[in-house]
Amino acid sequence: MPKITFVRENVQVDVPEGDGIRYPALEHDVPVYCGVKNVVNCHGNGLCGFDRVAVSPAVNTNPLTFMEKFWLRGDLKKNASMRLSCQVQVFGDVTVDTQCK
Ligand code: FES
Repeated sequence: MPKITFVRENVQVDVPEGDGIRYPALEHDVPVYCGVKNVVNCHGNGLCGFDRVAVSPAVNTNPLTFMEKFWLRGDLKKNASMRLSCQVQVFGDVTVDTQCK
């Protein structure tokens, strides 16, 4: 069972293989949305691009989705680990750095 470690919040969650990051984060009060985006977002449909997190290692996740390539096209040049928490599936242990400061 893969383990998601939210580094900044010091939270570890075991999830079924293939599970996403958004729901485990929200269930454990880990913020994936910053500020008003916590209220105004697409609720995990890949349409807003507001739930940006850095996830590593990439080998333990699914490939970037079409929506991630669209929303993260600028971010990926600076940080290749950026993902949308609602689009990631985990297949092994990963660490997640949330982006709200
Ligand atoms: S919640 Fe909107 S893109 Fe992930």
